[in-house]
Amino acid sequence: MSIRLPDDSKVAQALKRRRQKLATLFAHPVILWSGQSSPRNFPHNVFVFRASSHFLYFAGLPLEKAALRLQAGRLELFVDEATAADALWHGASPSREALAQFMGADAAFPLQELAARATGAATIPVQDAHTREFQVQILGRPDSFLSNYLQGIDLELAAVIAQIRLTHDQEALGELRKAAKVTVKAHLAGMAATSASNTEAAIQAAMEGVLIAHNMTCAYSSIVTVQGEVLHNHQHHHDLHPSDLLLADVGAETPMGWAADVTRTWPVSGRFSASQRDIYEVVLAAHDACIAMVTPGVEYRDIHLLAATVITEGLVDLGILRGAVEDLVAVDAHALFFPHGVGHLLGLDVHDMEDLGDLAGYAPGRVRSDRFGWEFLRLDRPLQAGMLVTIEPGFYQVPALLDNWEWRSRFRDWVNWDRLADFQDVRGIRIEDDVLVTESGSEVLTDELPTELMVVEQLSSAAQILTA
Ligand code: GLY
Ligand code: MN
Ligand code: MN
Repeated sequence: MSIRLPDDSKVAQALKRRRQKLATLFAHPVILWSGQSSPRNFPHNVFVFRASSHFLYFAGLPLEKAALRLQAGRLELFVDEATAADALWHGASPSREALAQFMGADAAFPLQELAARATGAATIPVQDAHTREFQVQILGRPDSFLSNYLQGIDLELAAVIAQIRLTHDQEALGELRKAAKVTVKAHLAGMAATSASNTEAAIQAAMEGVLIAHNMTCAYSSIVTVQGEVLHNHQHHHDLHPSDLLLADVGAETPMGWAADVTRTWPVSGRFSASQRDIYEVVLAAHDACIAMVTPGVEYRDIHLLAATVITEGLVDLGILRGAVEDLVAVDAHALFFPHGVGHLLGLDVHDMEDLGDLAGYAPGRVRSDRFGWEFLRLDRPLQAGMLVTIEPGFYQVPALLDNWEWRSRFRDWVNWDRLADFQDVRGIRIEDDVLVTESGSEVLTDELPTELMVVEQLSSAAQILTA
């Protein structure tokens, strides 16, 4: 893959600060591999390459088939020079020396020299199996070398890297703001395209087209669906009907790998029905209350609890749930309609550092609950300034839950099933924003994208197109 070096001399300084931080927390040498793309159907037709996020964090460049050796603040780059065939098929690439200079490396070597410099090094497994074999061979790790089973110095390294990447420096925030800005534009384009679109795919194209036009990619597979109750629905083949709600969860990734993660839900007709409006307002109330709670020191699990409480209050007011709000939340009745967590860390990965299991998301000593409604809580830490989190409450009518005999009998008396039938045209609503924890509270990086019901109606209606 040929690569263009950004024209930014500050990157090398930022990378140096990152590896100095690593050096103060970790004494062993560290080797981080970038990985390589995998074939789609034959070796020369490959999936788009995505460098390992841990490599990107310290290298600042999405190099393929490269490795870094870090020790005591020193950086060595291992990568082969591009061949004549690479240049023929993929265009000219910077030399190894130019790459090393860009990232402020102290030395640079061909990849095969890495093995001789690997003694005593810690590492983190990459996602692609081919490169993992390489890690197994030159570091003498077990064949089943995966993040879930890290041991010894690799586990220590993972904990240290999780600690470092948990809060974002100014350079990371610069990238995250770029991703957020383009993501807002993509959502506005999706809303504006709705009245002239007949299919989910057409709206997906309008949204992803904005990312592509800014030389960005999708940070994750887009969810653009009239079946919003399918939480990670990656099908886009449905036609749009005027009574549908469209749920769009689309986020940009910058060329250096930094992500945004945003969801909006809007009416295909440009007008919410009365039942859709009622539920939208409940989800929005939870969204706003949770964002207002984001500040250093607050436990993220308490924000999740607030989301559950506000949603429950709203559903009691609408007559869908019956009983005292506290009792309903205590028996997890909210989870029938809000089964996932209120959000997660965001950074180089959309669920940042989830390759390390819960090492980043959960404070030391805490383990994930297996309780209904809490099992998908991906973050359980006190918030710190510099963390970027999503806030994404939702309401869903999932047949697998609501039609399940066990759940139905468990919640038989807590749900007014007849009243619920009045809300059949609400399949799924989620409202998701990216919220930076600041010293004094929070900043919503995606707040230029409206959430207010009437503004969302206006942006997604034909009238908006005519008057734009
Ligand atoms: N886009 C996936 C999520 O919101 O977690
Ligand atoms: Mn999310
Ligand atoms: Mn999302």
